[in-house]
Amino acid sequence: VRRSGQSGTILFYSEASDPSWPTELQKAFPTFAVRTRPEDTDPTDVVAAIVWKYPAGMLQQFANLRLIQVLGAGVDHLWSDPCLPKHVPIARLVDPGLTARMTEYVLLHSLALHRRLPELRSAQCKNTWRYLHPRPPADTCVGIMGLGVLGRSCAAALAGIGFNAIGWSRSRKSNMAVQTYIGAADLDEFKRRADIIVLLLPLTSATENLIDSHFLAGVRDGAALINVGRGALIVENALIAALDAGRLRHAVLDVFRTEPLPAEHAFWSHPKITITPHNSSATNPATALGQIVENIRRATAGEKLLHPVDPLIGY
Ligand SMILES: NC(=O)c1ccc[n+]([C@@H]2O[C@H](COP(=O)([O-])OP(=O)(O)OC[C@H]3O[C@@H](n4cnc5c(N)ncnc54)[C@H](OP(=O)(O)O)[C@@H]3O)[C@@H](O)[C@H]2O)c1
Repeated sequence: VRRSGQSGTILFYSEASDPSWPTELQKAFPTFAVRTRPEDTDPTDVVAAIVWKYPAGMLQQFANLRLIQVLGAGVDHLWSDPCLPKHVPIARLVDPGLTARMTEYVLLHSLALHRRLPELRSAQCKNTWRYLHPRPPADTCVGIMGLGVLGRSCAAALAGIGFNAIGWSRSRKSNMAVQTYIGAADLDEFKRRADIIVLLLPLTSATENLIDSHFLAGVRDGAALINVGRGALIVENALIAALDAGRLRHAVLDVFRTEPLPAEHAFWSHPKITITPHNSSATNPATALGQIVENIRRATAGEKLLHPVDPLIGY
């Protein structure tokens, strides 16, 4: 039974999101049934799936699905589902609350690295008075890899407090306040300039393992790294080798190949690594709900989605 635009089931599936989502969705869609478990639906009634890290194969049973709405900015977990229905349009979220929290995180850790907080902390642990002269942010070049919604916001905020910010992306940018570098041809020059490299790239076949030993051999001596993109952008052994060799002075990691990061993982106790548990930012129902409401309306009316994802390029 193909449902009309005003009824059907919305499946909300996420194991790690704000618990108010299903209630907020039900309030926004009084004529739809909002369900959180596929087994509580009649599969032919499901018209929209709002998902974050669902079990592979879950979506293929919904013959009348018109929208896959990912509940976050990154969509890479979809590509590991071999049964992802190829004909159903996919959208991601662009959430001003998520962008604001991410921008705070990147500012926080860029300032901490610029003011050498890790080195001061390590001196304190040895009861050592290690005077490190404070320098203006203009002396530090922060290079942002990925100039999408998040990277652009971070670049503007970093430049706004005086950092020398630069960016790198796949396609040419216009109207950027910071200097930009494009694609593989510019990567060496970008790396040579950045004192702090911020990873805000999506995980795709082109970006997976991009931060490998070859990449790290070409960074500035004593550069620092902040990874808020995805864990698999980085080759873990290459990162540890670069930190141990002093090629990199510190890494701030929010995302990992395996999450939660296993207790025995070498990153936990490395003196030059700061770990946060993938909490740099998160989607917030208050700022993201309107966009989902609009996308369900558009999908059921057959209109073009907000923030569509291109499965061919992977983001
Ligand atoms: N840690 C967290 O809690 C958290 C939260 C949200 C998001 N994230 C991560 O952050 C990523 C970025 O989010 P966003 O909303 O800013 O994404 P976005 O708007 O899609 O921007 C992605 C940027 O990466 C660039 N890019 C993609 N592939 C590239 C390649 N092969 N070479 C060079 N540049 C490439 C794109 O270039 P073009 O501009 O040329 O297209 C674009 O500038 C997400 O995909 C997700 O993995 C993490």
